[in-house]
Amino acid sequence: MRGAVRVGAAGAILALALAGCKGGGGGNDPGRPPPSAAEKAVQHKTLKDVETRIEAAIAAGDLTGVAQGADEVLARGLADVRTDEPKTLKDEDRLRYSGLVTALEEKASALKSAAEANEGLKVKRAFQQTTASCVKCHDAFAQNPEGRP
Ligand code: HEC
Repeated sequence: MRGAVRVGAAGAILALALAGCKGGGGGNDPGRPPPSAAEKAVQHKTLKDVETRIEAAIAAGDLTGVAQGADEVLARGLADVRTDEPKTLKDEDRLRYSGLVTALEEKASALKSAAEANEGLKVKRAFQQTTASCVKCHDAFAQNPEGRP
């Protein structure tokens, strides 16, 4: 009996979730299909482009460009990565995820500081550490290896 009640509750939640999808988060255009799982998926995937731009700026010795890139990670990237936290984590994993976001923040801040201080060698090291913090979280939490560093 208890099991049946539970399934009923889960069904109701699912129905609500589906109704929510149809309502369309922001897109109420009736001709527009709801976003596919792939479309609404990863908010922070543009960080890959930012990373590529920072790498090119380093190669070109353009430390202003590096600082701007690091700023983008800090200004928008961190919030987007938080949004992308998988919804099903246990408390301990949520803490770990949050710690990995903080690690990215620290590395990107160090990158920005080094670029602003015009310290080329530090910039290279801080960039490596920044990308390593992307990879560290992906190894722990990402399912789909496509397209991510
Ligand atoms: C705290 C965790 C975390 C950090 C830090 C992080 N990511 Fe991710 N990233 C994820 C998760 C979770 C996914 C979802 C992957 C999946 O669905 O398989 C993801 C997926 C991606 C994807 C794939 C997008 C797609 O369309 O499949 C890209 C690209 C990406 N991340 C770039 C980056 C870059 C660049 C950085 C560092 C600057 C970074 N991420 C840092 C958690 C993180």
